[in-house]
Amino acid sequence: MRLVAPSLLSADFLHLSDEIKFVNEHADILHLDIMDGTLVPNISFGFSVVDALAGVCKVPMDVHLMSVNPQNYIERFAKAGAAMISFHLEAARLAGQDPSALLARIRSLGVKAGLVINPDVLVEDLYPFIKDADFILLMSVFAGFGGQSFIEATYDRLRALRREIDRQGASCMVEVDGGVTLSNADSIAAAGAQILVAGSAVFRAIDRPAAIKAIKGV
Ligand code: DX5
Ligand code: ZN
Repeated sequence: MRLVAPSLLSADFLHLSDEIKFVNEHADILHLDIMDGTLVPNISFGFSVVDALAGVCKVPMDVHLMSVNPQNYIERFAKAGAAMISFHLEAARLAGQDPSALLARIRSLGVKAGLVINPDVLVEDLYPFIKDADFILLMSVFAGFGGQSFIEATYDRLRALRREIDRQGASCMVEVDGGVTLSNADSIAAAGAQILVAGSAVFRAIDRPAAIKAIKGV
């Protein structure tokens, strides 16, 4: 079972309520990229936008926190209605925060907790936290911008992560983010991903519902 999470970053910001209605009708999850201009070289949107979306969004909101000091934003995004919150392992390290404790804090708010790594972080660095996470978000591009090309080395990382999750007997889901297209979605799912984030492949498609179906493999 494959879930598709369109990334709002590539949506039409002048017509957000229409974009959310489309996601409600056709997709499984709404992926929200929160960029702070410091952890990543881009700034996206924040609390006020997510608060507004919560009023119309009927699918689970997946907050991908690309920010330094992730410990400062967990409660606020949970309050805004996030069903999933993930933070970067790199950001937790920079802030001197224990990733397990942050994951536990997210879970304690009734929100699914996720840990993210960029392509230059060893996939093995995630292994100690698999049991504490509801999902792992493996970046298949460097976080910061939509529309980049999928990094092929992600396949090996995905397979390794999937093997380790199974070895630990954990139930953690795997999400892949960046450069997902209609043509690579099947291979990404076959390598072990259950949640596929797609920004430009969905919102820039001529036939958006068909794009979602193709990425979902139905
Ligand atoms: C990149 C973001 C992604 C991005 C994906 O930093 O985390 O979620 O929106 O966009 P595409 O699917 O266009 O690569
Ligand atoms: Zn993202």
